[in-house]
Amino acid sequence: MSLLAVLFALCLLVSVTSVAGQAKPASGSSYVAAVYEHRVFLNPEPSVIVSRAEALQHMQKNLDVYEEQAARAAQQGAQILVFPEDGLHGFNFSRSSISGYLETIPDPQQEKWNPCTEPGRYNNTEVLQRLSCMARQYNLYLVANMADLQPCPLQSSPSSSCPPDGHWQFNSNVAFSSDGQLVARYHKYNLYFEKSFDAPPQPEIITFDTPFAGRFGLFICFDILFREPTVSLVEMGVRQLIYPTAWMNQLPLLDAIQFQRAFSLGANVTLLAANIRNDQLIMTGSGIYTPFSATFHHAQRGDPEEGRLLVATVPVLQEGGVEATSSSSTDSGYCFKEGCFTPLHRETTSAVSSATFISSMMYDPFTFVLLNKTEDELDVCDGAFCCHLQYRQYPQGDRKELFALGAFAGTHTVNGRYALQVCALVRCAGLDESSCGQEVEVADTKMDFLLEGRFGTRYVYPLILSSNMILEQPEHLGKTMDDKVTMMHSNMTGGLVTACLYGRMYHLDNQ
Ligand SMILES: *[C@@H]1O[C@H](CO)[C@@H](O)[C@H](O)[C@H]1NC(C)=O
Ligand SMILES: *[C@@H]1O[C@H](CO)[C@@H](O)[C@H](O)[C@H]1NC(C)=O
Ligand SMILES: *[C@@H]1O[C@H](CO)[C@@H](O)[C@H](O)[C@H]1NC(C)=O
Ligand SMILES: *[C@@H]1O[C@H](CO)[C@@H](O)[C@H](O)[C@H]1NC(C)=O
Ligand SMILES: *[C@@H]1O[C@H](CO)[C@@H](O)[C@H](O)[C@H]1NC(C)=O
Repeated sequence: MSLLAVLFALCLLVSVTSVAGQAKPASGSSYVAAVYEHRVFLNPEPSVIVSRAEALQHMQKNLDVYEEQAARAAQQGAQILVFPEDGLHGFNFSRSSISGYLETIPDPQQEKWNPCTEPGRYNNTEVLQRLSCMARQYNLYLVANMADLQPCPLQSSPSSSCPPDGHWQFNSNVAFSSDGQLVARYHKYNLYFEKSFDAPPQPEIITFDTPFAGRFGLFICFDILFREPTVSLVEMGVRQLIYPTAWMNQLPLLDAIQFQRAFSLGANVTLLAANIRNDQLIMTGSGIYTPFSATFHHAQRGDPEEGRLLVATVPVLQEGGVEATSSSSTDSGYCFKEGCFTPLHRETTSAVSSATFISSMMYDPFTFVLLNKTEDELDVCDGAFCCHLQYRQYPQGDRKELFALGAFAGTHTVNGRYALQVCALVRCAGLDESSCGQEVEVADTKMDFLLEGRFGTRYVYPLILSSNMILEQPEHLGKTMDDKVTMMHSNMTGGLVTACLYGRMYHLDNQ
């Protein structure tokens, strides 16, 4: 796809669905949200073309589970329920072998259609009908992910992306209102090695309105790492985002729940994230995240491979809250539980005292420095980008653990291309420098710390992960006008695995 399209889309393509005439929810109100982590029934031979009847027979097995979960969610008062990406058809299809699974999803911006009450309007829409009837029967808004087939003009302008066979196949979210009406359709823009699908010619900015919480925006999986459509939704003022995903976990920085939490905190939004559960593909990690709280699930090694429904009452976020991002200054110093660190007035070019080394983390060459004292302060730089850490370690038990502070400024190029500035405090997998940046899930050592960086971007996503995949809410997050970001935390509930400020340099992605 054309990368320029990303920029053009900012100006040209802001298309929004909305159901007119609905009352806005009162400020201070709340609603009940649900997400379902689904162990998808897979087609064992996804490269073989199947008939429509066979594809439907396969998808009905997954729809049967959706139906049970919709009933359970409704019993718990859920007003909106989100299912994961690929949750009805599975993975690894070719462009032709997925054909039996495709339905042509009408554009809800062009026409009102309730597939449950008007099933005869379109042929070949069994999945849409069943989802619509589920929303209607259980009286909740429902979002699911499915495969859409749309004809496209073959003789089209050079900027169009119509494939040679004259149709697009899209990885799509569909949203239904609680009476079953199809209210939104979103086509995934940032595909992740999905040979069965096309990216839409421009990013689609899609929202829908609800009577209980106002607007929700839609995006899918890999989209979360990119400006379009995700940041555009946030910058339009959308504060509640729906996120079906099929995310393969990768520690130390990009496990599903880590980035879900980081995105919600960094963008100050609510995120309803539903992942697939599949142990072989390392997929688990779903949650309901607000700027203030997180209800999440991450399966532990050895847990039975099964689905998980999460339900939480969350506040309605009023629109347009992202601009006020500068909070307390970093000049007053932060008190930790056993005393205060003296505030520092350093330039980022201050002497980088310690011996540094390069180790690969998530395929990127981080510059690291070891934490080899009980308490200290450290700087580490990658070029002109510097990270600062003040820390005090609280070892528990006898196991010796090694920690390192890493900085990376550059473009990540493996399995996707995106420009980063990252400050990360990690537990190294072993006691050797070269193990810093490798995957590790457990830690005993607790840490009080202040982690800080001066970023070349406003888009910085903070996260703290402790032992056994537990997310902690940072005690303090601060940002100055010149994009110096500070995260402070103490009194951890578990040993520290990762503390990270993940800066996305969206403006450099196209270079
Ligand atoms: C899909 O293909 C990948 C490799 O391309 C493989 O690792 C994975 O196991 C496959 N998944 C399924 C569900 O067949
Ligand atoms: C649906 O398919 C039937 C049988 O192929 C056809 O007679 C009918 O016209 C189609 N209806 C619509 C709405 O396309
Ligand atoms: C984040 O959102 C909350 C709730 O809408 C708001 O009170 C707060 O001011 C926002 N914080 C920032 C830093 O924008
Ligand atoms: C700690 O690291 C610094 C720099 O890497 C080094 O100079 C110092 O000797 C180390 N101290 C200990 C106790 O290992
Ligand atoms: C530390 O955490 C515990 C439980 O997580 C809590 O009870 C206690 O009040 C906290 N102490 C401080 C100083 O925050």
